Formats: sequence, structure tokens, C-alpha cells
Amino acid sequence: MEFSAIVVAAGSGERAGGGARKQWRPLAGKAVTRWSLEAFLAAGARRVVVVIPQGHESLAREAFAGLPDWVTVGGGATRAQSVRVGLAALAATDGEAVLIHDAARPFLSPAHVAPLIAALAAAQGAVPALPVADTLKRRDSLSGAVVTAPRDGLWRAQTPQAFRREVIGAAYDAWPAGETPTDDAAVVERAGGKIALVAGDPMLMKLTYPEDFAMADRLAGAARMTRIGLGFDVHRFGPGDAVWLCGVKITHDRGLIGHSDADAGLHALTDALLGAIGAGDIGDHFPPSDAKWKNAASEVFLRHAASLIAASGGRVINVDVTLICERPKIAPHRQAMRERLAGLLGLAVDQVSVKATTTEQLGFTGRGEGLAAQAVAAVALPV
Ligand code: CTP
Ligand code: MG
Repeated sequence: MEFSAIVVAAGSGERAGGGARKQWRPLAGKAVTRWSLEAFLAAGARRVVVVIPQGHESLAREAFAGLPDWVTVGGGATRAQSVRVGLAALAATDGEAVLIHDAARPFLSPAHVAPLIAALAAAQGAVPALPVADTLKRRDSLSGAVVTAPRDGLWRAQTPQAFRREVIGAAYDAWPAGETPTDDAAVVERAGGKIALVAGDPMLMKLTYPEDFAMADRLAGAARMTRIGLGFDVHRFGPGDAVWLCGVKITHDRGLIGHSDADAGLHALTDALLGAIGAGDIGDHFPPSDAKWKNAASEVFLRHAASLIAASGGRVINVDVTLICERPKIAPHRQAMRERLAGLLGLAVDQVSVKATTTEQLGFTGRGEGLAAQAVAAVALPV
């Protein structure tokens, strides 16, 4: 089923304490709100509306750089008002599922989405919920007396919460002015709708107090798995006056022969990135039989691999390329190559390594018949 998402990120984060507002704070190098946006996009959201504080457009642009299919709208004074603004901004498609999510719950994963949408077959709303595990105490505010409260049948509601667009829209329209719901399911309940509880997840914790950020920093590491990819490529020398390697043109007394620009460094690195996410190899994505790629600049291939990683919610940790040839000498160009690759991949230069070696005049590289390149890439993917 098609779905759209609303991420509410227009709060003022009073309880989280000083510093940048919690929705824009970095968590493992990524703004808190970007985590949820990436997860929805990776899950196949048609469109994501992010409700942000008035005037925070440039913070949002910076936080969401490079991601597709999002729009921002300015939020309201309460969470419920922000949700209403988000609903208004979603071009209504009746029957489509809408997932409404707190930006303050960054560890959303694409796997959370399908069970919520599936539950809408038999209910007007679906909520991830956890049974209350701790014993509940009630303290009388006047006497201070403490008693144990029964916890049977009590659940902690999380987000994202799923509804059909027209159901949640009508429920909000019917909600009494002057009252403030604490979640979106409450609005549908009041309108007489049935709510399904699906399995919640401790990872859907909400960042509320300062100490929650310390926990989130630890979870941010645990929420990613590191994947490794390996690439290898060879091109034959032929007539020419320059070679392309790692996106840098080097004047040489020969050229490299290939269908594209024959940049073996970029080809090996592209294969390493594709390998890290199990996405086949460069020939699957850019068949040499396709005339379109004749003389193509190989940076197109690398950018494509990087965009697939971003679309799966991943992030490149580091890459390492080894160029194998007797000539041209690589050392004078290594720094330019690192900077070029860093630019293409949106990485810092220290995340990119380029090395070179000869094969002691042995083999095809030693005889100068061709040149080889190896690459490895480490990628952090959501679990
Ligand atoms: N939210 C919103 N618009 C508001 C208030 C809250 O979009 N007027 C969003 C928050 O940005 C957050 C989610 O609703 O992602 C849950 O709210 P909460 O955790 O209470 O965040 P804040 O309201 O920002 O924090 P606080 O209540 O401590 O001020
Ligand atoms: Mg709040």
C-alpha cells in the first residue's frame, strides 16, 4: 500500500535543556530528525511532510541535504496543531495510509512501517505499543502515601501511528476545540474509531530529557551494522595522452582503453560500494552494451552507488583505494584524488584513502600492459 508520512518536529524541546533544539541536534553525526526522514524514505514513503518551527527552513535544508521527496511546513503551538498543519500539507489521497511520527524518536527503522499499515485492514488506527513492565506506584500528592497501581492491560503508546488519510483528517475536524490530545490515536478513539496495537519497540524511545541523549548516543552506534564491500578493476593501456584515475586527469604518454573513461579507480570503488549493500556490480547498473555509457565520466557510476546507499538509510564510513601500476606515478596526485573522491561521496578527506603500489615489474601491470585498482568500502546500514 502507498503511504505518506508526517514527521512532527516543531516543538521547542523545553525538557531536553539547553543547546540546539533537540530535533536538530546531531546524533552519530546526523540531525535527530534526519534519522526518521531517512527511515521513511527507505521504507518507500511517497512523500514526507516535516513540520518544523516557523523560520527553521535553513536548518531543515542543512539537516536533510541530499534526501528526496520531503517538504517542510511551519508548525503550531501544540503537537496536535502541528499534526493538523502536516495533514493539510499532504495532498489528500483518500484511502492512502498516513504515518504520523515524532521527530524525537529517531530510531525508527523501515521495518516498523509494514505491520502498522497491515493493521489498518482491521482498524481505523494502528499504534506501536509496549506492555508496561515496571511496577506502577501512585503517590498521593497531599499525604505522600504510596500505593501500587494495577498495571494489567496498560500499554505505552509510541509513534509512528498509522491511519487512513481521510479517517485521521475527519477525526481531527471533529475534535473538540479547547482540548489537547496527547497522541493521534486518541483523536480517532474519540471519534469512535477502533485502534489496533502492534508490537512496539524499545528502540522507538523518545528523546525528552537531557539524559535521554546519552542513551541515544549509545543506541545510535548499536542501531547500525557495518558492512564491507570489495572492488577490483583492470584497464589496458593504449594510445593517448592522459589517463583518468579516481576522478583526476593525469597527463601520461598513453591512455587507458575502456567503454567509459576507463577510470579503474572509480570503477573499483563503485563496485566496493555496491558490494557493501549487496547491490550487484557496476555492469548490472551500467551495462557496457548500452551505448549511453560510451565515454561516460565514471563519477556518474560512483554517484549512483552513493545514492543507493543513501536511499537504504546508510552512510559511508570510509573508503580505501589501491592503484597498481608502474607508471604514471600516483604519489603527486594522491591528495587531489582523495579530495575529489571525498567531494563525490560527501565525505571528509580523512574518510578517504588512496594508495599506490607497483608489482616490481612482474605481471601485466609490471610490464605496463595495463593498470589495476582495488578498493574497499565500509558502510553503516540501519539494522
Ligand atoms: N511537536 C511539534 N509541535 C509542537 C510541539 C511538539 O511538532 N508544538 C513535536 C516535537 O518536535 C516532537 C514531538 O512533537 O518531535 C513530541 O513532542 P515532545 O517530545 O513533547 O517535544 P517538544 O514539545 O519539543 O519538547 P518539550 O515538550 O520538552 O518542550
Ligand atoms: Mg512537548
